[in-house]
Amino acid sequence: MKVLLVNGGPHKDGCTNLALEEVAKTLQKNNIETEIIWLGVKPISGCIACNKCMQKDNRCFTDDIVNEFLDKVETADGFVFGSPVYFAGASGQITSFLDRVFYGRGTLFAGKAYASVVSCRRGGATATFDQLNKYALMNNMYVIGSSYWNQIHGNNKEEASKDLEGLQTMRNLGENMAYFLKCKEIAKKNGIERAKYEPTIRTNFIR
Ligand SMILES: Cc1cc2nc3c(=O)[nH]c(=O)nc-3n(C[C@H](O)[C@H](O)[C@H](O)COP(=O)(O)O)c2cc1C
Repeated sequence: MKVLLVNGGPHKDGCTNLALEEVAKTLQKNNIETEIIWLGVKPISGCIACNKCMQKDNRCFTDDIVNEFLDKVETADGFVFGSPVYFAGASGQITSFLDRVFYGRGTLFAGKAYASVVSCRRGGATATFDQLNKYALMNNMYVIGSSYWNQIHGNNKEEASKDLEGLQTMRNLGENMAYFLKCKEIAKKNGIERAKYEPTIRTNFIR
């Protein structure tokens, strides 16, 4: 079992990474493989709505970190996406990344585990948390929660490491995700198949 964790902040070793590491350590304790992917500081293009992703092997129009990530998706059972809070929303980096990762790719992610974590100095955490969870909640994914909304507070890693409740929230998130993934494995071994869905009906609010 494997979980991919994505740091969508500009600091490779900042608050968001601290939160993700805490989740990862708990997953590893439960014998789940983890990989933290940092999106870096180079600009990531947003979705250009070319719909190429619907035509060719799930690839995105430009070969960058989005396609690198998509290559790994099939082997992963769960995902944790982390972002610093910027003006009560997710970072531009992770917003562009997730728009392109998820657009037209519901079947790639359906049935898998999803969580988001956010870091902020003071406010806007729950709005950002809601924003990040939206990707999963329309793609038949299982959103994993914790003992509080998945947020950590601090302006830098040192401050965030003092947020004991935030860190505990991350560990409990890891425990919940590990339990869910183990249950899924046992269900599969016992012949309980994944949820089956009807062909999608799209009405675009016009008929
Ligand atoms: C452009 C920008 C906007 C920010 N907006 C907010 C905000 O709305 N609310 C808040 O509490 N902190 C805000 N912050 C602070 C960061 O969210 C906070 O320092 C975060 O924990 C940094 O995470 P990182 O170390 O992973 O980059 C902002 C920081 C920047 C650079």
